[in-house]
Amino acid sequence: MIDGGVAEQRAPYDHRFHAGNHADVWKHVAWLSLLAAHKRERILVLDTHAGRGGYALPARGGEWTMGIGRLRQRFAGGSTGSGAVDRYLARMPDPAFYAGSPLLTRNALGRTDQLVACEHDEATAEELRRAVADDPRIRVRREDGWAAPFPAEAGARTLVLCDPPFHEPADWLRMAELGQRVHEAGAVGMLWYPIKRWTRPTSLHHALRGRKVPHVAVDLLVTPIERTGHSLAGSGVVLIGAPASVLVELHAALPVVGQALAHHEGRWSSRSEAYVP
Ligand SMILES: C[S@@+](CC[C@H](N)C(=O)[O-])C[C@H]1O[C@@H](n2cnc3c(N)ncnc32)[C@H](O)[C@@H]1O
Repeated sequence: MIDGGVAEQRAPYDHRFHAGNHADVWKHVAWLSLLAAHKRERILVLDTHAGRGGYALPARGGEWTMGIGRLRQRFAGGSTGSGAVDRYLARMPDPAFYAGSPLLTRNALGRTDQLVACEHDEATAEELRRAVADDPRIRVRREDGWAAPFPAEAGARTLVLCDPPFHEPADWLRMAELGQRVHEAGAVGMLWYPIKRWTRPTSLHHALRGRKVPHVAVDLLVTPIERTGHSLAGSGVVLIGAPASVLVELHAALPVVGQALAHHEGRWSSRSEAYVP
C-alpha cells in the first residue's frame, strides 16, 4: 500500500513486473544523467535498494510496453533530441532485456570507482551477486539499505541512489531521513518516488525543507492525476547536491519522455520544485 495508512500483509516486492515501465524510464534517465555528470571524478556509489540487476522482458504484454517499449517505437533508433534520453536508450541495447540500476551503474564505473549494492531479499540478492560476480568494483550486501553506511574516501565523490518499493508508508519518512544524511555527508543523492496522488510526494518535499536539505524535485506525470485509479500517474526524483548540468538535461528530457509515454489523450505534465534554505 503506498497511499494508505495501514500496512498490509503481502508477498515480497518483485520489480520484475514493473521493469521498463514509465517510472523506470524516468528514474533511469535521471540516474544516468547524474552518473554522466560525475564521469571525470572518482565515484563511490551506494544503491540502497538494488534489485536483481536485470530483467528479461516478456515478449508480449507487460508494463514495459508502455514505458521503454513506447520510447523505442517512437524513435526507432534515431536521436530523440534529448541527450539524456539518447544516453538511456543507448544503455539498453537489447530489446528483450532491461538493465536495472546496478547494471546501469556498473557500465558507468571507472577503473577505481566502486558500487555498494544493498538488497534485502535473499533470493534477489543472490541473483544480483551472480549478475555482477565477475566485477571486483561491486559489493552486493544482503542488508537493510536504509541503514547502510555511505562509502567514503578522500578525493572521491559519494553518490547515493534510493529506490525503495514503498510497500510501507514509513518508506516516505525514511526517505526524508536519508535525504538529510546525504546532505550532511556532502554526498550527491537521487531519491525516486511513485506518484499516485500529490499527498505523499508533497509531504516528502515538505519534510526535506523542514530538515533544511537543499534539493530539486522533478516530477513527470504521464497520465492526468485525476485519471489514475490504483495505478501510477507518474514518478519523481529528488536530487540533492546535483550539478546544474543534470537539471538542464532533465528539463530538456521531460517533453521528450512525456510526449512519448503519455497514455491519456496525449496528456502529460511535469512539476519542478527547488529548495535552497
Ligand atoms: C524498486 S526495486 C529496486 C529496483 C532497482 N533500484 C532498479 O532500478 O533496477 C526495490 C528493491 O528493494 C528491495 N528492498 C526492499 N526493502 C529493502 C531494504 N530495507 N533494504 C534493501 N533492499 C530492500 C526489494 O527486494 C526490491 O528488490
